[in-house]
Amino acid sequence: MAAVAQETTVNLTINAVEIAVPKGELIVEAVKRLGLEIPVFCYHPRMKPVGMCRMCLVEVGFKQPDGSVRMMPKPQAACTLPASEGMVVLTDSEAVHRDRKGVLEFLLINHPLDCPVCDRGGECPLQNNTIFYGPGTSRFVEAKRNAHKAYPLSDYVTLDLERCIQCGRCVRFTEEISGDGELAFRFRGAQMQPSTFGLKNFDSKFSGNVIEICPVGALTNSKYRFRARPWDLQTSPAICTLCSNGCNVWMDWRVGQIMRINGRTHEGINEEWTCDLGKFGHDRFNADSRPTQVLIRNSDHLAPSNWGPAYKEIEAAFAKGGAKVAALAGGILSNEDSYLLQKLFRQTYMSANLDHRFTATLQKPEDRLESKLGIAQVQDSIASFESKCAVLIFGSSLADEEPILFLRVRKAWFNNGAKVIVAGSQATDADSFAHLVLRCKPGTESALANGLLSAAIESGNAKVPDATRKALAEFTPERVEALTGVSAASLREAASMMGPGAAVVTTHGLFNLDNAQGALEILGGLAMTTGASFNCCSREANHEGLVWMGVLPDRLPGGAAIPTSDRGLNTHEILDAAASGKLKALWLAGVDPFKAHPDRKKVEKALENVDFLVVQDCLDNEAIPYASVVLPMAAPAETEGSYVSMERRVQAFGPVLTPKGDAKPAWRVFADLILRATPQRPSFDAREIRAAIAEEAPAFAAAIDIADEGVMLG
Ligand code: SF4
Ligand code: SF4
Ligand code: FES
Repeated sequence: MAAVAQETTVNLTINAVEIAVPKGELIVEAVKRLGLEIPVFCYHPRMKPVGMCRMCLVEVGFKQPDGSVRMMPKPQAACTLPASEGMVVLTDSEAVHRDRKGVLEFLLINHPLDCPVCDRGGECPLQNNTIFYGPGTSRFVEAKRNAHKAYPLSDYVTLDLERCIQCGRCVRFTEEISGDGELAFRFRGAQMQPSTFGLKNFDSKFSGNVIEICPVGALTNSKYRFRARPWDLQTSPAICTLCSNGCNVWMDWRVGQIMRINGRTHEGINEEWTCDLGKFGHDRFNADSRPTQVLIRNSDHLAPSNWGPAYKEIEAAFAKGGAKVAALAGGILSNEDSYLLQKLFRQTYMSANLDHRFTATLQKPEDRLESKLGIAQVQDSIASFESKCAVLIFGSSLADEEPILFLRVRKAWFNNGAKVIVAGSQATDADSFAHLVLRCKPGTESALANGLLSAAIESGNAKVPDATRKALAEFTPERVEALTGVSAASLREAASMMGPGAAVVTTHGLFNLDNAQGALEILGGLAMTTGASFNCCSREANHEGLVWMGVLPDRLPGGAAIPTSDRGLNTHEILDAAASGKLKALWLAGVDPFKAHPDRKKVEKALENVDFLVVQDCLDNEAIPYASVVLPMAAPAETEGSYVSMERRVQAFGPVLTPKGDAKPAWRVFADLILRATPQRPSFDAREIRAAIAEEAPAFAAAIDIADEGVMLG
């Protein structure tokens, strides 16, 4: 007998094989344990079953005390039927096959059968189920239902109503997973159709997922429509690099271009979802405006050139530049890029003027919570959020900044009733399901944080030293109410929810608020003293990696702090030095400072006044007109390397496409320049560079060889 290691199991018989499964497991899932599959349309394992399509019909009976089996008179939907003791299930009987054929015949009555011009053709569950289980011909000769073809629900999603089989997956996704409730069914019977309210724009941050879960070609990808057929595409596993969540994706490509992105299952990260930025944002790497040629300034214009002359120009400007040269990096650089960038600057150019942070407050190593409070700044994995009993989201719109983490927090609320508290001055998507919204006046976030800790101390929920109690004495909930506009009662209620099993979550956006360090310490203290966990999450794809690799003026690879006297300039100081003419040469590696830095004027002044500017990027960059040399950089999909996500998971990616034009991986450029200055054995691939990183940062040793699920750094 096949068995499962579960405490409460029931015994049933599936197609004459006896099996024990967890009590209550749906039959559609139970049969998978025997390697069997029941065809479905409306059922989706991550959403509640609704039994709408009837594709999953099976025969069911029950063992009787005398050993006989009494079959139920009608077939049952396997997607809504929980396993129970003594159940007998037939998934392959003549009756089941007849029922499936009948269901498909009905579904196809109104289906336009336009597979040859349907984007879903070739990967369509309706096609596949019809081929395996459906009738070979149609008896339907009457006129079919007609509907609007290719109705644009948004810039991303196109609806072809004629193809809809009314399974409700898309509607349920917006109700249960993304929570925006943008889609609903209108009308009834054969006329029932998924729609936005009042036919307005499908306004969701996760709309692309409905394209993937629609089991027919009713919802198609407006960006991908008619650009390729599934059998024309090459599909490669990849990591999304458009935020710090590190979602796993499939990259479908053709003739050197990314055609579309689909979610790839990683239960610890994105389950199978993507956000719209990740799904549709990769088009930017296909853009014609992207630099693909080496350019060198020739008086008032940038002239096409190649790598040799560019390296000579760079060497003349940077060699042993010391305090007069600097680099600013972007979160799109991989660990390998970042490690070699800091090595080039520290060892070849003798400069520690390195940074990748663009927030108003730039935290020093000694200000990190590890030093201040003895706790890590990120304590939870993404997956662990779904079992939190309470989550305090502070000063962040998670749906915009950490989209996949947002889905987990929402899942904790939707599935388990977790209490979500949203604190901040701006309305956010999480407000819609929050138990409490602490909406403070802009600029009073720090006082709000103080008020929360003070309320937790007042109630005895937080145990703090007397010095802390004294320091917070003035932040009574009533006084904080006067300062922030958040009621004292709400503060007390929110504080009472913090404890073991709860989490405080904020993002690096916090570092743009007034008194950011103070607020960080108070929030960390709130979590620590109440037994909750704390997370201050990075926002860029490899921010955590750039910290680990030491692309900072005050930290070496691995995180060791540099003595104050040997520290370089940070981002703000670098821009100030460039603006005042003290900097001879500046390298922008994968970053557009006009987009990254909040003070446009400061950036403009810096770029105008620096003698020599290198702009190295795989995207269009506003700094290019100021550049002395432009270096085309390979996009993440065009190179190999690794990233550290906000939960400190290292994930590797390999090259999917060849670099566009003359573009080179950033790490190869840094390696070339190191080699030209100091002949040595070069690193040939990303793995070798990771081995070199591990020599300087031993904790990285586990990440030299990276398994599919990634490696969590301690
Ligand atoms: Fe189902 Fe697709 Fe129709 Fe939505 S559009 S109800 S997912 S068939
Ligand atoms: Fe990409 Fe971030 Fe969206 Fe995931 S959440 S798909 S990593 S942009
Ligand atoms: Fe069971 Fe649709 S899959 S009714």
